[in-house]
Amino acid sequence: MESLVSRAGTLKKQFKLRQPWGVLSGAAVGLLFEKPSTRTRTSFEVATLRLGGSPVYLAANELQLSRGEPVKDTARILGGYLDVIVARVFSQKTLTQLAAYSGKPVINALSDTEHPTQAVSDLLTIKEVKGRLQGTTLAYIGDGNNVCNSLLLAGALTGMNVIVASPEGYEPGAALVRKAKSLAKSTGGSIDVVRDPKDAVAAADAVYTDVWVSMGEEKEEDTRIRAFKRYQVNSALLRAAPRRAIIMHCLPAHRGLEITDDVLEGARSVAWQQGENKLYGAAASLEFVVK
Ligand code: CP
Ligand code: NVA
Repeated sequence: MESLVSRAGTLKKQFKLRQPWGVLSGAAVGLLFEKPSTRTRTSFEVATLRLGGSPVYLAANELQLSRGEPVKDTARILGGYLDVIVARVFSQKTLTQLAAYSGKPVINALSDTEHPTQAVSDLLTIKEVKGRLQGTTLAYIGDGNNVCNSLLLAGALTGMNVIVASPEGYEPGAALVRKAKSLAKSTGGSIDVVRDPKDAVAAADAVYTDVWVSMGEEKEEDTRIRAFKRYQVNSALLRAAPRRAIIMHCLPAHRGLEITDDVLEGARSVAWQQGENKLYGAAASLEFVVK
């Protein structure tokens, strides 16, 4: 994780200087998406081009997958054409099947349980602003979802202190928290799950939030909005945080729900820097799987 974040930072400098780096020269990178995406799709397409490869966008609803062709058959065929598969899926199981049957590296571009390349870009952002990862404190407020899970694991791997505040029933899963805690033991980091958002932000270097209703959970919208009401990142919550705390959001944001407009647009928000850094997180992830 540390080397991915560090490579993302180096590739950022190289990209800005337009320095060519053809690690994907001659390679075809498939982007198989079952859900919408602005940032992840575009950043992986552009990163592929900038690294000398060719992106091939595959909307799942336009493939025979949508007419019932099994994932394992699709994977065996795509593996014959593509060098890397980047996939955004409803179920993590689809990713493991793609990897098992394609014989090619598969990058998780968001699943129901994780969003690892988002975490690479987010850690790059924290490192750029705070100068380090080790010992920094990240408070994640809201849903114990895919983004939260990947931040817990990435933070644990890099010696960060990650504190999650979620309402009852929406905490990150116990098995994942156990895994993150055990990783944190060897890096000097720490993992905590609390109830009160004010407790979570009290020593935060970064306050992070994500949507209350993830893609695929639209039917639960009303219940979730009620459950998360006290978990909005707003100026009242930030009064309980140190002045040094930056504000993070993976985007897309829902102003007035998980975050207020003034906080997202405010001077402490690094959401747009995080968005740009998706490009370098994607590039480092692509390089990592082909090198
Ligand atoms: N943050 C993120 O993954 O955004 P997209 O859904 O636009 O890819
Ligand atoms: N948790 C959100 C992240 C979007 C980038 C979702 O899965 O929809």
